[in-house]
Amino acid sequence: MNSSVIEAKSLTKAFGTTTALAGVDLTVQRGESVAIMGASGSGKTTLLHVLAGITAPDAGRVLFSPVTGPAADVTTMNERDRSRLRRESFGFVFQQGLLIPELTAIENIALALMINATPRRTAIERAAGWMASLGLAGFEDRRIGELSGGQAQRVAIARSQVTGAELVFADEPTGALDSQTSADVMSALLWSTTGQGRTLIVVTHDADVASRCSRTVHVRDGRITAAAGAQA
Ligand SMILES: Nc1ncnc2c1ncn2[C@@H]1O[C@H](COP(=O)(O)OP(=O)(O)O)[C@@H](O)[C@H]1O
Ligand SMILES: [Mg+2]
Repeated sequence: MNSSVIEAKSLTKAFGTTTALAGVDLTVQRGESVAIMGASGSGKTTLLHVLAGITAPDAGRVLFSPVTGPAADVTTMNERDRSRLRRESFGFVFQQGLLIPELTAIENIALALMINATPRRTAIERAAGWMASLGLAGFEDRRIGELSGGQAQRVAIARSQVTGAELVFADEPTGALDSQTSADVMSALLWSTTGQGRTLIVVTHDADVASRCSRTVHVRDGRITAAAGAQA
């Protein structure tokens, strides 16, 4: 399928006198995996947050086209709709999983469904399914501190996917992992997203991670400097 899932136009964002985004245009097609690379401070995280409706840009627009229903501008919808979009249509994976240490692995995943009003039992069942798919069967009742870094990131991936999110944003998801674990986590992330017809936008410093994506864009001083073509 060749239809855009998210389309950013002329995005700008400043924090005080710092220009984080200096006019970014980016279109991502459904089913793509796009790596965003660039030096520290180049604006990658800001771009991800603006695309995901976490941060409002100073100017520009972000058009999200869901599988069903009309396209909507993430930057102008009201906060309630934007919040629902983030909960239901978008998934997030961060460098440190940002998991809740007091909850078990399975509860962390199920919580993403329960805040969308899914009954606990159904949520736990679906969470267990994702854990099994990501090689985490048997770890359901571990607390986050009792998991390895790679296992914790797979819990974070399951959490980002259990809602059926069609667009997943990952910000340096392998940044804290060794290279073998990083490769495994990237496999899990790709299998869960593009492997299911979903779309992945991943910020990374790691050329190995980027090379596994269908496309890489480079950000420098708040601008996209080059967009490499689709890789084999
Ligand atoms: N909340 C913020 N307040 C002030 N400055 C910020 C904030 N977020 C980002 N910046 C600045 O914007 C620039 C881009 O930051 P960021 O998007 O986090 O870059 P990257 O993720 O590529 O390292 C940096 O100069 C950073 O210091
Ligand atoms: Mg960053």
